[in-house]
This record gives sequence, C-alpha cells and structure tokens, in this order.
Amino acid sequence: MKVIYRDQILEFDPVEDETIAQFAARLAAHISADVERITLLLMPKPGLLKWPFSERALAQVVTDKTRIKLVGTPNAEVKKLDDMGARARQQRPSTKVQASKYRDWRKVQEEAQYTFHVIEPLPYLPNPEKSRRFLQRLANDPGIKASMRKHKFSVGLLTEMNPIEHTSSTHEGTSRTLGLNRNKGEVIELRLRTDAYDGYRDYRVVRKTLCHELSHNVWGDHDRNFWDLTKEIEREVERNDTLHGGRRLTNEEFYNPADAAALDHDHAHDHGGWTGGDFVLGRSKQQEP
Ligand code: NI
Repeated sequence: MKVIYRDQILEFDPVEDETIAQFAARLAAHISADVERITLLLMPKPGLLKWPFSERALAQVVTDKTRIKLVGTPNAEVKKLDDMGARARQQRPSTKVQASKYRDWRKVQEEAQYTFHVIEPLPYLPNPEKSRRFLQRLANDPGIKASMRKHKFSVGLLTEMNPIEHTSSTHEGTSRTLGLNRNKGEVIELRLRTDAYDGYRDYRVVRKTLCHELSHNVWGDHDRNFWDLTKEIEREVERNDTLHGGRRLTNEEFYNPADAAALDHDHAHDHGGWTGGDFVLGRSKQQEP
C-alpha cells in the first residue's frame, strides 16, 4: 500500500484483518508521531479520518484505486520547537540572533500547522490541474497564510465544488452556493468554476468567499460574531496585498471581471457552517438550517 506523506511515498505491506485504527497506529509509529495527532485522507472516499480512528476493517474502505495521504508532525519536530522556545525565553534580550532564528523556525512550523493540509480538485471535471493551481494559489496567498497563522486555522481538505450540484432555480431567480465549510474546517469547498465549467471565477472574488468560509471555522451561524471575524480576515488579507505591492494584474490567470461584477445578486455564500454527514469529494450536501 502506498501512502503519500509530505514529499515522499511510503510503502506499507498489507496486514490481514487490520482495522483502520491499527493501520493509523502503524503509520503514526512509522513517522514517530502521536496517533492522536495524525490525519488520514482516503481519496475519493471515505475522505478525512481523524482520531479516534474507526475499528472497521481497513479492507472495507480501501480498494486498489484508493489514494492514501498522511498528515502529521513527528514528535521530534514538535519537541525541537518547544526546546527552541524554552531557550529563547531563557536568553537575555541581547541575543537577538537566537531570538530571530527562533521566530523564523516558529513561523515555518506554524505555517505547516495552520494551513490546508490537503488540496484536491474534483478529478472528474475538465482540467483538474487548473483547479489545483487555483486552490494552491489561494493556500499560498500571503494574506491567507498570515490570517490562518494569526487565528490558528487548520483545514483538513481544500477542494472545489461541482457548480451543477450547488445551483438551484427558484421563483426569485437562480441561487448559487459559493462555498461550504464542513465541521469547522474539516473540509472547505469553493465554487471555482463558472456555471458552464468552461471558465474560472475571479481570483479575488473566490478568495473573499474563502475568508467567509474560514470564519465558519469558528462560528457556525451568520451572527454578529461571524461577520466581525469575517471582516477582520478580509482586512488582513487585503492589507497583505498592499504589503506585497498591491498589484492588480489584469492579465493574470484567474482574472474575471465579469464574475466580480455579477457577484452583487443571485449568490448566497452558504447557509452557515455545517456538521455531520459522510464526506465524499464533490458529493457533499449541505444541511438546510
Ligand atoms: Ni456562511
């Protein structure tokens, strides 16, 4: 069995009658991490698995086509961070070099922790690699990264939604869901594509939806708390644009001014953060409030 971990592919021999929990323990031991702190993504289903892991047989959920991704931090890396923190605190303020080394190391560690652990486009829509580029660009956006680190946001899976499954017609017009957040950051889905699948929505507009969905990591309902945090995240993201030159590249890949102009009507971000359900890539159904 192949397991993707960071930039490597790990090979594991199948063990007869092994449960998901036993398999998770084996993977955690292999990378010297606590099993409570690892996450598994089984693609295309059953999706994200976390502690406590199921006692179901692994063979029931894994086929030849399942892709397995492991997310976790070895204990040695966690300890190194703790040690550096302790050392930096003990030292006098004059040892600025040591302190700044620690800050850089901590930033790297935090960016690895407060991030989108897995990025996957929908494989059955045209040109999935283009969607992957879009999602990666969002994940690497300096403002998104800074905001995620500040608020300690960790998202298991960032993916796209199938536009056709999230569009409905009512007597008032067409309703489009732009994003979904399942279980406070387990999965965030974004509508990247235009309705006809042939194009992509505007980068800044989709990024604004991401700010909205990130706020659902904390708040489920669209109440005052939710909107205050959403505005805060949007400001942080826009401020970083200015810090990084504030460029408006009209020839860039995901620039779509028509989409930005159309945003004023016919769109609902979502019906609030939602919980539960079996997640299958591209098949999630949001529960109505
Ligand atoms: Ni919402």
